[in-house]
Amino acid sequence: MKRRIGILTSGGDCPGLNATIRGVAKACYEKFGSDGIEIVGINDGYSGLINNECKEMEPSDFSGILTMGGTIFGTKRTPFKMMTVVEEDNVDKVKAMKDTYKKQKLDCLFTLGGNGTHKTSNLLASEGLNVIGLPKTIDNDIFGTSVTFGFHTAVDIATDVIDRLHTTANSHGRIMVVEIMGNKAGWLTLYAGVAGGADMIVIPEIPFDIDKLCEACEKREKAGKAFSIMAVAEGAFDTEEAKMKKKERAKKRVEAGEKTASARIAATIEANTGIETRVCVPGHMLRGGSPSAYDRVLATQFGTRAAELLFKEKFGYTVAMVDGEITENKLEDIAGKTKFVDKDDQMVLAARRIGISFGD
Ligand code: F6P
Repeated sequence: MKRRIGILTSGGDCPGLNATIRGVAKACYEKFGSDGIEIVGINDGYSGLINNECKEMEPSDFSGILTMGGTIFGTKRTPFKMMTVVEEDNVDKVKAMKDTYKKQKLDCLFTLGGNGTHKTSNLLASEGLNVIGLPKTIDNDIFGTSVTFGFHTAVDIATDVIDRLHTTANSHGRIMVVEIMGNKAGWLTLYAGVAGGADMIVIPEIPFDIDKLCEACEKREKAGKAFSIMAVAEGAFDTEEAKMKKKERAKKRVEAGEKTASARIAATIEANTGIETRVCVPGHMLRGGSPSAYDRVLATQFGTRAAELLFKEKFGYTVAMVDGEITENKLEDIAGKTKFVDKDDQMVLAARRIGISFGD
């Protein structure tokens, strides 16, 4: 029996998407032979599934992509909350995705993505499609897996940024505030902060008190340390903002003309301490380029495990890493949940033990 599978990548891109796609594809060709399986690449995430924008893949398409950043299929953000909303184009998106699945005669759909992607995967699984998810994101915030592919490469890049900022911070005796991606969860800032030797780490899970951050900078100055490095997550907010509802906080930010807290933190620190302060925002550079060795290995483990799920006809699952072992979770158990940094996470405790301030 010849199988036919579809693969899509959805949400923000990250290093390791192609390595994971390659893992799925190569494992399938090994198992069924190149005549025993047909692979369909779906363009631009769920948008391609809605609009039946697909391409037939050949085994050679999956060669030479292990080290490539981005995604060979393209990706798009198609918010989960809009999936069940019929917009101006009058398209019933869920029906359209099911129709494409049928038209393409797919036996299974592999979805590579983050939290939003997994929610839609779960919806499609509940609608009767055979779906297998793979956990992607530099944010590392997918519930039920200790790690996602893309995370460690981003940690490496952010660490390199912090390393490089040390020289300017030191030469000029400045405070360098580096804003690191991570809107909801602070994993990337926490890990890169520890790896890069940041003096302060500010994450959404631990709302900051600006006075405490100023104190931490002054304490270092008094101890003869000419500079400080502060790693601030994109989604960080202060103790006052923590009391507000999400919408109220967003409104306040719009009124203040700010998207993130980093510039405000830097300006207040400079005004209150008199120490020259600068902000650096590496932004999407954290998602760019070739995956690290760790992520290539993880992508291969995840991709081939996902293929195994197909072989066993175990659908409605997403692969995961739990206690160092590659395993899987039911999509319905993890969809819609976010993995946040716990205040007592071992990495937070280790950081505190070496004197890193969280501004709390
Ligand atoms: O989810 C990954 C992520 O990189 C977040 O860290 C960041 O907030 C967001 O994507 C940025 O998204 P976009 O590429 O749409 O600007």
